[in-house]
Amino acid sequence: MVHDSYDTTYFDKKLFIQESERLSESVRINKVGILNSFNFLRMENPSLILDLGCGTGEISLALARFFPNSRVIGLDRENRFITENMRKYSDQKNLTFVQSDCYSLPFESNSIDLCYSRFLFQHLRTPDLAIAEIFRVLKPKGKIGIFDIDKKIDIIYPFPVHSKKFNTAEAFYKKLIRNDLYIGRKLISLLLQSHFNNVAKLDVSIDSLNTNRTDIVRLIESWNYLDFNSHPYVMTKRITSVELKEYFEDLLKVTKQTDSYICFGLVFITGSK
Ligand SMILES: C[S@@+](CC[C@H](N)C(=O)[O-])C[C@H]1O[C@@H](n2cnc3c(N)ncnc32)[C@H](O)[C@@H]1O
Repeated sequence: MVHDSYDTTYFDKKLFIQESERLSESVRINKVGILNSFNFLRMENPSLILDLGCGTGEISLALARFFPNSRVIGLDRENRFITENMRKYSDQKNLTFVQSDCYSLPFESNSIDLCYSRFLFQHLRTPDLAIAEIFRVLKPKGKIGIFDIDKKIDIIYPFPVHSKKFNTAEAFYKKLIRNDLYIGRKLISLLLQSHFNNVAKLDVSIDSLNTNRTDIVRLIESWNYLDFNSHPYVMTKRITSVELKEYFEDLLKVTKQTDSYICFGLVFITGSK
């Protein structure tokens, strides 16, 4: 069993609900970027679509609405998401959910038209193996679409207080749990190495020129459900709980300033089999 960096298995009910709300909020705030990524695929009536690592299922629902004649299957390793999604989205007739692992997909080779995935690949220890498995299940000319982060494109200006310490603690912690903050650029090479054709990139960043500042403020607020004293970044000893609290307070203040520029870098990478 490969262990990836995203694991809600040990979350209690309250934490699980808070994490679900954080994910949902980030879908709501980036609905333009998500819609742009669907259009960028230029697909007409794909018959079968997979949403890999579907989590709370908002992306699966958006896919099912955008492609109303397609069948969409949301797949996630975490059973709690799957059970909840089956209940939440039971009215959407072209949408179902399955609990499974992205390294071993329960589908025949050459059977899927589109494999879409948002914020899964940054967590995978062996993304190349997941891409090979996706390549197997895709039909010839079928498409992969991966929506993920690349920290290098993040811009926050002016710098909030303790930025350097925050960035060091974040990088240290993410490296420890093997959450890849730079997966965005690597996906291009990974798709080329896996023999995908027509590899293309779209910028789907959330930024203060194209998104309401109040929405970005809500997004930042949704990250802060963890207690500062036991926050994993504080555990790295690269930042204190007081500094972390001050960093977030200042980040919110900077974000509310009309002359600041905030960009959370996100890319969408696609390719065809
Ligand atoms: C950060 S969440 C993203 C959820 C959703 N795609 C979104 O954009 O809101 C990552 C999801 O990937 C799932 N996941 C992690 N490793 C997985 C694996 N190996 N196979 C399938 N799902 C996995 C997690 O359970 C989680 O729901």
